[in-house]
Amino acid sequence: MSVVQKTRRGEVAIRDLSKSFALNGQRLNVLRNLDLAIKGGEALAIVGPSGCGKTTLLRVLAGLENPDQGEVLIDGQRVEGVGTERAIIFQEPRLLPWLTVLGNVSFGLQVRGHSPAEAEARARHYIRLVGLAEFETAFPRQLSGGMSQRVGIARALTVQPEILLLDEPLGALDAMTKLTMQEELARIWREEKVTMVLVTHDLEEAIFLADRVLVLPKEKGAMPRLIEVGLPRPRDRSETRFVEMRRRLMAEFGLH
Ligand SMILES: Nc1ncnc2c1ncn2[C@@H]1O[C@H](COP(=O)(O)OP(=O)(O)OP(=O)(O)O)[C@@H](O)[C@H]1O
Ligand SMILES: [Mg+2]
Repeated sequence: MSVVQKTRRGEVAIRDLSKSFALNGQRLNVLRNLDLAIKGGEALAIVGPSGCGKTTLLRVLAGLENPDQGEVLIDGQRVEGVGTERAIIFQEPRLLPWLTVLGNVSFGLQVRGHSPAEAEARARHYIRLVGLAEFETAFPRQLSGGMSQRVGIARALTVQPEILLLDEPLGALDAMTKLTMQEELARIWREEKVTMVLVTHDLEEAIFLADRVLVLPKEKGAMPRLIEVGLPRPRDRSETRFVEMRRRLMAEFGLH
């Protein structure tokens, strides 16, 4: 089947972005004067200690949260609220229990006014892409955690976003499934040519998937750091340069 051609590139520009929250009558500064340019088609990982603002940054990029100051531009256009060029994937896939896999994946397109036949045809393409062709008619309760997360990924891809925002999408999976899903994500990113912004706690996952890693610090006043991964793909976790990169990233957190 023909998949709609993408006209935009999924380039993200974050300019002087600040975000704070009110907490017990005080301002809690979470993001401060952040500047970052993400290239179209780039894979960027965001890592940092719990509470440093990873989810907050992703929510601002998704348009679910307004910045206090600064702006986010997507292909030169200022982000105001959610938009169809961006899709967000959360830690738990939040599937609709009364719909089948096909129903869940095609739902977003039908809501957007596509005919059921067209929505299902496109949904089938992405269900195949995530390796669930045989489970189209299964209901969420009949799926494993990894399979549910794949449905979530297919659902996000079906609306053909230029930018895929993922908040610890593999965090709830067991170690083995996680490794497989990392391979899948690497393949999907390559095939779909989307810009991917991935929040993760897993430094190895960041190195495996990303072109660059943004390290957000917890301490106030400390500057975020960007690390270029620069390893050839497909990546091999046991390779010397991979291990070296992991050591370097761990050192960012004072770990050895
Ligand atoms: N809606 C909100 N109201 C008040 N404070 C908030 C809100 N959302 C986030 N925060 C605060 O902002 C800080 C950053 O939260 P955020 O969820 O972005 O962290 P995170 O880096 O994603 O952490 P984790 O790794 O634990 O998911 C936290 O201190 C949190 O308490
Ligand atoms: Mg978070």
